Amino acid sequence: MQANPELQAFLKTCQGQVENALDHWLPAATITPERLHAAMRYSTLGGGKRVRPVLVYATGKALGADPRQLDGAACAVELIHAYSLVHDDLPAMDDDDLRRGQPTCHKQYDEATAILVGDALQTLAFQVLCKDDTLTRNAKTRLEMIETLATASGSRGMAGGQALDLAAEGQTLNLAELENLHIHKTGALIRASVRLGTLATGHHDSELGQKLDHYAKCIGLAFQVRDDILDIEGSTETLGKTQGKDRAQFKSTYPALLGLQGAREAAEQLLAEALESLSEMDQSADPLRWIANYIVGRSY
Ligand code: IPE
Ligand code: IPE
Ligand code: MG
Ligand code: MG
Ligand code: MG
Repeated sequence: MQANPELQAFLKTCQGQVENALDHWLPAATITPERLHAAMRYSTLGGGKRVRPVLVYATGKALGADPRQLDGAACAVELIHAYSLVHDDLPAMDDDDLRRGQPTCHKQYDEATAILVGDALQTLAFQVLCKDDTLTRNAKTRLEMIETLATASGSRGMAGGQALDLAAEGQTLNLAELENLHIHKTGALIRASVRLGTLATGHHDSELGQKLDHYAKCIGLAFQVRDDILDIEGSTETLGKTQGKDRAQFKSTYPALLGLQGAREAAEQLLAEALESLSEMDQSADPLRWIANYIVGRSY
């Protein structure tokens, strides 16, 4: 599915904005240790859909935030995501050669560098949340943002989900177990992206904040269901990563458990539930609606 024209314009603006923020916060490749800094920039800049930053901005827009206020949060969540991809591709994990249409970090550099890239991108994310002046003037809110991203990234979030993913290779999980795996490895950071947007605008504890959190939970799971489907129906060229790896590595996926049609139906149901959560919001929430549709219909 092609993104609709309005979403395309919104994506372009958000992508440009987070690219600038990432470029600003990542140390220059001329600063020592040059090779590490070059590899951090290689793994982060100029690629990726930037779905998590876009969600930070879209949530902020729905709640009336100034987009510039959100650059630090958008940048931080993308740094964690970029780190997660570098580590996910390592030989000890998914052992992938291609990412975002380029050699993976450990192929372009080496394994030790790729491990350090992940370490350094992760800590840089928290440095940005600590230091960014425009994020918030409220120290308590800043701490809540740091905690949100830390919890979503760690053993109770993405890293924990990755552990479940590796343990599930060659196993047959039931649907509840698979849902739990996906909610953690991918859903947690997507949920955190929306929460960062609600925190920045002071809406996190409101009923509206809870509805947005439910929206995020649904699209976070749908995002990984679609990723599983694309591993089967996509092409290496369009995906920018090697197609067919999940089956080759006996991964636990939605299509493996439910079949392709069952997985598609699960994604559609999650989309409907996500949109229902936004039903009381006006057109300022349209970008969130477009993104939900895009996540379930995307071709890469
Ligand atoms: C890929 O994420 C890994 C998953 C969590 C499914 P994306 O599909 O967001 O990858 P990029 O950032 O666009 O490359
Ligand atoms: C990755 O899931 C989730 C992460 C936390 C990076 P996958 O292993 O399915 O992601 P891809 O397909 O390699 O992008
Ligand atoms: Mg993986
Ligand atoms: Mg992988
Ligand atoms: Mg995948």
